Amino acid sequence: MEKRRWMERRGQCTLALGALVFSASATALPPNAAMLTHDCAGCHGTDGASASPSMPSLAGQSKQAIVEAMKNFKTGVRPSTIMGRLAKGYTDADFALMGDFYAGQKMYLTQQTLDPARVAKGASLQASKCGSCHTESGKVSNDDAPAMASQWLPYLQMQMALYVEGKRKTPGMSETIKTLSADELESLLHFYASVK
Ligand code: HEC
Ligand code: HEC
Repeated sequence: MEKRRWMERRGQCTLALGALVFSASATALPPNAAMLTHDCAGCHGTDGASASPSMPSLAGQSKQAIVEAMKNFKTGVRPSTIMGRLAKGYTDADFALMGDFYAGQKMYLTQQTLDPARVAKGASLQASKCGSCHTESGKVSNDDAPAMASQWLPYLQMQMALYVEGKRKTPGMSETIKTLSADELESLLHFYASVK
């Protein structure tokens, strides 16, 4: 009887100590990628596979593309509706963890209704006009260039409008788009959205 009570008490002590150790280490732990990207899933989808046509998919983008985008949102260099305010809540170390996380996800293939004539026209232009940076039909995220294959068309259209208005700028690209008509640019976006 005595022995059993002692065992019980010892068990409680171990539990209590365990809880203490756990809470101490939980507060000391730096944020990890899963915790941080949990904040993003509501808009960008679980694992960066966006279900909403106005929100870009992040899955499969390069670490550099994610990190640069976050830094540019934070400083305001890149215009935004939401991300500028949101990025201010995070550090460069957080951005690096977010970049690792999304770069490690498999690219998300969207299902969208696209105009086949525009897709074909965009296909004929993309290699010569955009392919030097958006390689392999936009399937590869190179350095700071985001992957565009299968990205949501409404998101791409919003971003292209910002480029055309000169509010979002990228050296090399901002000059190239001036040589193309609105119809050609729209066709290029249909093409990228169609790539699987
Ligand atoms: C409330 C919705 C919302 C949340 C939450 C959110 N985002 Fe965004 N995100 C957007 C929108 C909208 C855009 C397009 C830019 C804009 O207008 O703000 C965007 C754009 C981006 C882009 C640019 C993608 C590209 O293809 O260039 C990145 C990177 C990004 N978000 C990362 C994140 C990360 C990381 C988190 C979590 C810390 C996050 N976002 C949370 C709505 C959101
Ligand atoms: C000189 C290299 C270069 C060329 C050429 C180029 N781009 Fe880009 N593009 C980039 C980079 C780098 C980014 C991301 C830059 C940033 O976030 O500041 C980008 C971003 C974009 C975006 C926004 C994607 C997103 O997820 O937010 C679209 C849309 C786009 N490019 C379309 C095009 C089209 C269409 C062409 C051809 C007419 C083209 N680009 C030519 C380098 C280039």
